[in-house]
Formats: sequence, C-alpha cells, structure tokens
Amino acid sequence: MSQESDQILKDYYSRTANDYDKLQLHENDEHYNALKILLGIITDEEISSVLDVGTGTGRALLHINQFFPNINYRGIELIPELREIAISKGLDAEKIDLGNAAKLPYPDNSFELVTAFGMLHHVAEPQSVISEMLRVSSRGIYISDHNIYGWGSAITKTGKRLLRNFFGQRLSGLILTKFRGYYVTDYDGVFYPFSLCDYLPQIQNNANIEFIFSTKGYSTNLYKQSSHLAVFATRKI
Ligand SMILES: C[S@@+](CC[C@H](N)C(=O)[O-])C[C@H]1O[C@@H](n2cnc3c(N)ncnc32)[C@H](O)[C@@H]1O
Repeated sequence: MSQESDQILKDYYSRTANDYDKLQLHENDEHYNALKILLGIITDEEISSVLDVGTGTGRALLHINQFFPNINYRGIELIPELREIAISKGLDAEKIDLGNAAKLPYPDNSFELVTAFGMLHHVAEPQSVISEMLRVSSRGIYISDHNIYGWGSAITKTGKRLLRNFFGQRLSGLILTKFRGYYVTDYDGVFYPFSLCDYLPQIQNNANIEFIFSTKGYSTNLYKQSSHLAVFATRKI
C-alpha cells in the first residue's frame, strides 16, 4: 500500500469507527450469507481454531462464537478504534491483535481455518495477504469479497472485462481509478478495484478450491454476473 492510501485508509476508519456497524453491517448482506455457509463448514470439518484477518468490529468472530462458544478464535485488525469496538461487543481483548494482515505475526499452520470478510479489497497487495493466510492455516482458508467484473450495469460489467482482457489486471485497475490506483469514498474509505476471481489461480496453486459461490443474488456465470463471491479452499498436504 502506498503511504498516501495507507494514511487515508487509517484516517477514514479511525474517524468513522463509531459509525462502522451502522454503515457497513446489514442483516442478510453478502458477508452474513457467507457466514451462514461458514457455520456448515466449521461443523462438517470439525474446525476447532479460526483466525479472522481484518476483524473490524468483530462481525465474523462474534457470529462464529455465538454458534461455537468453545472454538479457539483469534482476530487481527489494523485500526485500534475498530479493535476496541470489537472488544466492547464481547470479543476477548487477549484474542484480538493489532497488526497488519500482510505480515501475520503467527507461525506457520497456527490456525485450522483462516478467514477474511470484505478486507481484501482494502489492500493494495491482496496476494501478500492471501499468502499469509495460507501460510498460517493448517486446514483451509475462507474469503468473502468483491468481484468487480460482475458488478454494475451490463455495459460497465462488459467494459471492465474488456479492459481486463486487453490491458491485464494491474493496468485496467489503474485505468478504472483514473490512474490513482484506488478509490476513496465516503461510504467505504479507500478500496481497490478488486475481484476474487483474479486471485483464484494463486489460491488453487497453493490449496484445493472446494467451492466458490455467489453471496449476493442469482447468477449463471459467477465471473460475469456475481458482484460478491466467497471461496473455500483446503490446504494441500
Ligand atoms: C470492510 S472492513 C471489514 C471488517 C470485518 N471483516 C467485517 O466483516 O465487518 C475491512 C477491514 O479490514 C481492515 N484492514 C484493512 N487493511 C488491513 C490490513 N493490512 N491488515 C489488517 N486489517 C486490515 C480494516 O481496518 C477494516 O476493519
């Protein structure tokens, strides 16, 4: 992340932390849909430890803990104000670390499952975060995030895919953001033109993708029609 975007992201979240839940958490939104499926994975795979990167105000860990009170959970969050809110909502302060997901302060294979909900589109180098998630997980990773190529009107979706096909991911991202590299908005702070689809090869090269699905609405083609996706991948042993 550039120093400028890093600072804008930090300032935005620090300033809006108290409004985060009101602005970002909506019953049955895409991440809650992803969480419903995650509960089944935890049950079926008998998962006993979870790390959530970019914990925010604790949405995922609180949800998991509500259904699995004995699970060994840990979170890591960049913004102190958001971490404080997560703790005030009931998460254990000793289990929520302050830190950067691009350099996780944990040994290899520390957690059975490592999750990320809506955080990867906020980082300049998602591949570093995914590498770290894979490194510290012993069983698998679970990611819920954007797919910009399936987002918008038919014309904008087609336009984004054409840009991607002609110029590649990095240059098309620069073109979409008018060469700034990222967007800055009142409702989501700093974020990048991100698609989980661009990172599926990295995930599949290092793990087995078990399934990927739309977390928002109907689609017959995930890449072209789904604005939000979730993927579950198990580690290659
Ligand atoms: C859209 S919020 C999602 C928060 C939470 N996962 C949820 O579902 O509500 C993105 C979160 O990622 C965090 N984040 C962004 N970059 C990060 C980084 N490099 N390391 C750790 N957390 C980061 C932000 O501070 C913010 O809490």
